[in-house]
Amino acid sequence: MQVYLNGKIVPAAQAQISVFDRGFLFGDGLYEGLRAFDGRVVAIDRHVKRMSDGLREIALAFDPASLVRPTQDLLRANNLKDAFIYWQVTRGTPGAGRPVRARIPPPDITPTVMMYCVPTPGLGAYPPVPTKSACVIPDLRWHRGHVKSIALLGNVLAALDAEQAGCDDAILARGDFAGEGTSANLIAVVPRKGGGDEVVTPSMSSASILGGVTRDLLLAADASIVERPLRVEELRTAREIMLCGTLTMITSITRLDGVAVGDGTPGPHALRLLNLLLGSIRSGM
Ligand SMILES: Cc1ncc(COP(=O)(O)O)c(C=O)c1O
Repeated sequence: MQVYLNGKIVPAAQAQISVFDRGFLFGDGLYEGLRAFDGRVVAIDRHVKRMSDGLREIALAFDPASLVRPTQDLLRANNLKDAFIYWQVTRGTPGAGRPVRARIPPPDITPTVMMYCVPTPGLGAYPPVPTKSACVIPDLRWHRGHVKSIALLGNVLAALDAEQAGCDDAILARGDFAGEGTSANLIAVVPRKGGGDEVVTPSMSSASILGGVTRDLLLAADASIVERPLRVEELRTAREIMLCGTLTMITSITRLDGVAVGDGTPGPHALRLLNLLLGSIRSGM
């Protein structure tokens, strides 16, 4: 496997970073997870924007637009057209003689920039809608869920708690409100007062969640999706529950805390939203 490290594409086994890198020591950095289908990266501008906004928020000077061309080079170097692509930017390694554990980084530090890619299924693999089970787990992560931090310990621990409870994934909840999965955003289909279905995704202000690129593509493709606070108790009577994300695509949660959601199979909205997402990707969104 060839990876990108600080401007060069090199075999993964030869890529080296310092053990004093602040990403390694502090989780001081951000990442992006992107997807290419047939050689074209999905919504790369949205990933650049999200990373750029996040880097500004954490005061890390780096322009992720500079990764667009190397991403294509990396795909070619690995001979991949259908792939998951990972970008990581950390604050870097303090220079020789500089304190390694100072919380305030030295002003002259240079970011460490790394990318890799691995093969993933092509568009032809969808549908069917993938399925998994989930448990509701308290969201004990930090309050900046909109920042795509490499520090994913909270997500890891929630996923382990879910596994311990016999579920494939966790739906993270703060108090009475549902937020997102451990690696994807949440969508629920709930009965609308007065009849019919309401397709809901938690609003950004109602939970500490990531503004997912997939979530954004779906909101752009389906104006009927409502962004609002979503109560955990609404999930208990939801007709459908789904996760959406770059790798997740649309995945139906067919069991929640051991109870079947709807009839326990992917529902019509999951298939509809998956097809909308595939349409957005094909049209080059
Ligand atoms: C916690 C979390 N929420 C949501 C998402 C979905 O974001 P995207 O659609 O950009 O992949 C991810 C993706 O990694 C995630 O880790």
